[in-house]
Amino acid sequence: MSEHCKAYITTPIYYVNDIPHIGHAYTTIIADTLAIYSRMAGLETFFLTGTDEHGQKIEEAAKKRGKSPKEYADEISGRFKSLWDEFGISYDKFIRTTDEDHKLGVQAAFKKMYEKGDIYKDVYRGHYCISCEAFFTETQLVDGEFCPECGKPTQIVEEESYFFRLSKYQEPLLEWYRANEKCILPKTRRNEVMRFVEGGLDDLSITRTSFDWGVKLPEEMNDPKHVMYVWLDALMNYLTALGYGTDEKLLDFWPARVHLIGKDILRFHAVYWPAFLMSLDLPLPKHIAAHGWWTRNGEKMSKSKGNVINPKEVADAYGLENFRYFMLREVPFGGDGDFSQKALIDRINSDLGNDLGNLLNRLIGMSGKYSSGAVSSAKVAELYPEELGELHASLDRLEPLLFEMQLHRYLEELWKPLSVANKAIDRYQPWVLMKEGKEEQALALLGLIANILAKVAVMLHPVMPETTSKIARALGFTITPAVYEELIVRRDLLADFTIEKIPPLFPRIEEVRMPEFTPGAEAKAPETEQKKEKKPAKSEPVEGLITIDQFFQTQLRVGTVVEAEEVPKSKKLLRLQVDLGEEKPRQIVAGIKEWYSPADLLGTQVCVVANLKPAKLMGMLSEGMILAAKDDEGLALIRPEKPKAPGTSIG
Ligand code: MSP
Repeated sequence: MSEHCKAYITTPIYYVNDIPHIGHAYTTIIADTLAIYSRMAGLETFFLTGTDEHGQKIEEAAKKRGKSPKEYADEISGRFKSLWDEFGISYDKFIRTTDEDHKLGVQAAFKKMYEKGDIYKDVYRGHYCISCEAFFTETQLVDGEFCPECGKPTQIVEEESYFFRLSKYQEPLLEWYRANEKCILPKTRRNEVMRFVEGGLDDLSITRTSFDWGVKLPEEMNDPKHVMYVWLDALMNYLTALGYGTDEKLLDFWPARVHLIGKDILRFHAVYWPAFLMSLDLPLPKHIAAHGWWTRNGEKMSKSKGNVINPKEVADAYGLENFRYFMLREVPFGGDGDFSQKALIDRINSDLGNDLGNLLNRLIGMSGKYSSGAVSSAKVAELYPEELGELHASLDRLEPLLFEMQLHRYLEELWKPLSVANKAIDRYQPWVLMKEGKEEQALALLGLIANILAKVAVMLHPVMPETTSKIARALGFTITPAVYEELIVRRDLLADFTIEKIPPLFPRIEEVRMPEFTPGAEAKAPETEQKKEKKPAKSEPVEGLITIDQFFQTQLRVGTVVEAEEVPKSKKLLRLQVDLGEEKPRQIVAGIKEWYSPADLLGTQVCVVANLKPAKLMGMLSEGMILAAKDDEGLALIRPEKPKAPGTSIG
């Protein structure tokens, strides 16, 4: 099994019912960063990603498009793979759950668990959410019908099923969580999982008979109508990718150093997966790290909401590596983050352009002028010990932050040496030193700056591989594991630099480059303009007044009512489907039944608050609010004076 010098890093395998969006890119970019770091630090690294292609959800998605599940899976899986290739993601294997050896591995695992007595046959009665591919008990449902995770209606399922004895692993799981403080990151998530498991675990239904698109049971089971539960199939990818059950050559990468996942799939990874592994007598992963969601106007991105941001578009508009830096720096790992072009532009202009890019330009400029680009480190330790001390103190704090997934803090800490360098230039003013004939101090200062930039480039390399390679080239070295060992582990300085001029790495961005997301909030002029615009002092708000920006945070749009019906047993509510020009109409539950009948509304236009947090009314999801004016005489809807295309913004 895996020795210390091996690092197995995984992303979730992505469902092929959705095209890649920035949520997927986020997980993959974090994993890629860890993998590049591990390789640079000399660990034998295996980085796995891939696609999750079985299950009812995929079968239905394929049917809707008139394709066979495999045809459909081939197409979407290909889109994930080509995006990662285009992004230069350094995966070692791209697994597909439709791969033959994966299926064989899953069957081998099933057989082992069965022989161990951890699987038995019974009848499953309960509720199933196809969207989450998860079972729920009556008490977990919202209003007796809706999925507690995604709010969609569940299906009642009653079918013969094989069960996994999850209940048997309740105590062993709790022991594992207790003994391994960092097994689930961030640590707050571990507490959450422990509370869930302490609440009791039911055995888990792990086969289905009502559809076909999945891994069949091992032939010896003689039960051809069953297919494996998609999560058993999917989780097993982490083992089958290493050849489990077929060609086990790579199995010594197990256990995983880290499974990177989103918080929505924590239960599957932190409860089911370790239980399956215990049943298979295999060691448990070192870390399961759950990140938060990228949201758009506060809502999780998903195709069904029509609010996804295409990572390729962002990378094309702002630069792939700038985007990587932004994603990791902007949001504390585990927390949610709203995607904003303004924040992205700020990070590029400020952190990357001002702090890093300008420092390099200053060094290129000064070294060109004072010493034709030749810089030596000979006198640095003697003349600038304090600055070197600060540099190394920061560098020492970095690695633990990375492997505990505190990536935003890693980058924050990595920026401290840049500020040490910028401050040293301002404090010692090499141009003055040169004028005063103190050439030795001036050139040693350049040596300090060059070493700071070199070490920062090495540690930033996993996040921005190409950019940092360019920085290294400008300084006259190449980033390799040996250089990492020399500069970071041994804390040596690079003896000499030959500094060359290169074009600016982070040209200033003056305007948003993608279509607006939130009218007003995103369409503002870039940082420069905004900085000039004096914000009202916090101490003197004008009572009752809001700024134009605040107003535009509310997304008002024209919608056409395409379906309307009364909500049974409700005096006030109508359930409407309103077309806002998105992929599918929004459901809006409105308290207007006293004044309007469904027939009054059908085909008419209304004004909708489109970025209101969805809420449940009588168990029904309401994804917006309709504007109306109400006085003593009753209620009147606010409507556009002339028909407007659904989705037209108001303001
Ligand atoms: N197929 C399962 C995973 C099986 S792993 C054995 C799955 N797939 S998914 O495509 O729906 O999601 C994959 C990952 O993308 C999850 O970690 C999920 O959290 C992440 N994201 C999906 N939307 C996201 C955001 N809007 N923001 C951040 N990550 C999100 O679940």
